[in-house]
Amino acid sequence: MRFSVFSATALLAYTAKAQLNEKDIQQREKKIEHPPFKAIWKPSNAIKSGTDGEFSYVGKWSVEESIVFPGLKGDKGLVVKSPAAHHAISAILPEPLDNKGKTLVVQYEVKFQNPHECGGAYIKLLSDNDELRSEEFSNESPYQVMFGPDKCGSTNKIHFIIRRKNPITGDYEEKHLKNPPPALLNRSTNLYTLVIKENQDFEIRVNGKIIRAANLLDENIMFPSINPPKEIDDKDDIKPSDWVDDISIPDLSQANKPEDWDEDEPAQIPDPDVTKPEDWKEDVDEYIPDPEVEIPEDWDAEEDGEFVPPEIPNPECELHGCGPWTAPLIRNPKYKGKWVQPMIANPDYKGPWSPRKIPNPNYYEDATPSDLEPIGAIGIELWTMQNDILFDNFYLGHSIQEAEEIGNATFVPKNVIENAQEEEEMKLMEKKRHRGYNTWIDHFINDPADFIFEFSRFFIINFKASPIEFILNQPLVFLAVVAALTLVSTVLLGLIAILYVLVKPSSDKPAEKTKSVSTEQKESVSTEQKEASAKSSATKKNATISKRTRFAD
Ligand SMILES: *[C@@H]1O[C@H](CO)[C@@H](O)[C@H](O)[C@H]1NC(C)=O
Ligand SMILES: *[C@@H]1O[C@H](CO)[C@@H](O)[C@H](O)[C@H]1NC(C)=O
Repeated sequence: MRFSVFSATALLAYTAKAQLNEKDIQQREKKIEHPPFKAIWKPSNAIKSGTDGEFSYVGKWSVEESIVFPGLKGDKGLVVKSPAAHHAISAILPEPLDNKGKTLVVQYEVKFQNPHECGGAYIKLLSDNDELRSEEFSNESPYQVMFGPDKCGSTNKIHFIIRRKNPITGDYEEKHLKNPPPALLNRSTNLYTLVIKENQDFEIRVNGKIIRAANLLDENIMFPSINPPKEIDDKDDIKPSDWVDDISIPDLSQANKPEDWDEDEPAQIPDPDVTKPEDWKEDVDEYIPDPEVEIPEDWDAEEDGEFVPPEIPNPECELHGCGPWTAPLIRNPKYKGKWVQPMIANPDYKGPWSPRKIPNPNYYEDATPSDLEPIGAIGIELWTMQNDILFDNFYLGHSIQEAEEIGNATFVPKNVIENAQEEEEMKLMEKKRHRGYNTWIDHFINDPADFIFEFSRFFIINFKASPIEFILNQPLVFLAVVAALTLVSTVLLGLIAILYVLVKPSSDKPAEKTKSVSTEQKESVSTEQKEASAKSSATKKNATISKRTRFAD
C-alpha cells in the first residue's frame, strides 16, 4: 500500500515507530538524509487581488520547536510566525496521490500556542496540475479537499469541504459539511484526522476519537448535497384558482346566534346557596384605630394636620363577621361567553398545493465522490490574528491504521507532556483567581512579583476611593507604602546628589545648589514614580485580564 508522509522536518516517517526520546531523535536525524525544510515546504510569493484589495502572503513561516508547553525535546514543527497576516505555504508530493477506489486519510497536528481568537488552521489538498509546479500557491489554486479548524469570534468549526466537478456545467462546486463540529481551542497539540472511505462513508476524528461520521451521499450531510435532486418543482405549474386548501369552513346550518344564548351572562356569580351568617354584623367596622397608639407629644395639629392613629383589625370581628357581607363567587351555569359560528370540515378540501415534480434537467449522479481527482500537494493558506500556530506530523495516505500508528507514536506521548503543563498552568490561574494563598506571607513567598502587583493594586484602588478611611482602616498598609516610597525617594535623592557632586565638582556653592536641585527633583521623582507605578499596574492588569480570558473558553 502506497502512502506519503510529511513532517515539517520530514522526520515523521522515521520517528513514527521510534521511542520518542531526545537521543533517539538526534540519532535518527543524523542517520536519515531528509530533505531540508525548504525543499519540502515552499512559502508562496503570490500577489492576489481580493475583495478587500490587493494582498500578498507576507506572513512568515519557520520550522522550530514549540515554545508553549513544549512536548518532546528536539521535535520541530512548521510555525505560522506573523500575527494579523496572510500566510501561504505548500508542499509538493513526491508523486501525485490517486484516491480512485481507495480510502483517503489525511491527518495533522495543530497547536495554538497563543490563545486563539481569530484565524484558520486548515489545510488544502491541492489538485494536481502543471500550474502547481509553475505558479505560486494562492487562494485560487484549485483543491480537492479542505479540512481543519477555523475560528473567529463566535464562529468555530472544523471545515470539511470537498470540491466536485458538475459534469453538466463543467464547474466545480464546493460541498460543505453541514453543521461542522467545533475545533478545540486549548493550547496543547490536537490531532485532526479526516477519513473518506471508498464506500463514501467519512469520519472526522479529533485526538483519535471519531466525532462525526456519515455518508457523503446522504442528502442532508453536505451543502449543497453531493448529487442534485433527481426531480425539481415545475416552475410552470401554477396553483389553480379553484384549488381549495381551507381545511374547515363555517357551518352554514348554524349561521346565527341561538336565541337563548346570552353573551352578557357573567362568568362568575355569588353562590345563591350561601346565606349571611346570623351573627354577622354589617354595621361593625372591620378595622379600628389602634387604641394603644397615643398622639405624639410633639404633634402640632396646625402644622401636621389632624392626628390619625394607624388601624388594626377589629378584635371583635374574630367572634363574628363584620362589614358588608358578600357571598363567595361560583361558576355561572348560564355563562356561555361570546358566540362564534361553529366550523365543520370542508368537504371540498384538496390538501396543500405543491407544484408538479419534473425531472431535474441538471441532474447528475456522482456515485463515488471519494474518487477524488489526483492530489499534487498539501497547501496551507490562511489569515490569522494570532501567530505561533504550530503544524506537525502531516500524514496523507490510504491507511487508517498507519495514521493511527503515527498518532500513537507521536501525538500521544507528546500530548501527555503538554497537557500536564497546560493543566498545571490552568490550576495556577485558578488559584490566583481565587486568591488561594492562606496568608500574605504565603503569597509573598510563593509569588513575590504577583504579591507586589496585587498589593499596589489594592493600595491604589482603595486609597484613591477614600484616603482617610483607608488610612484609618489599614494603617499598617499605609505606613508600609509611605515607608517604601520614602526609602525609594531617599535612595534616588542620594544618587542624584552624588551624581551632581561628581559632575559639577568645581561649583562655587555646591552644598546649597545640591539642596535646591534635590528638592525639585524630589517632587518630580515622586510624581514620576506614581505615574510609573500606576502605568505598570495598568499594563499588568491588562495582562492578567487577557491571561484569564484565555481560559474562559
Ligand atoms: C493506538 O492506541 C490505541 C490506544 O492504546 C489502540 O486502541 C489502537 O489500537 C492503537 N492503534 C494502532 C494502529 O496501533
Ligand atoms: C485539550 O483538549 C483536549 C480535548 O478536549 C483534551 O483531551 C485535553 O485534556 C485538553 N488539554 C487541557 C490542558 O485541557
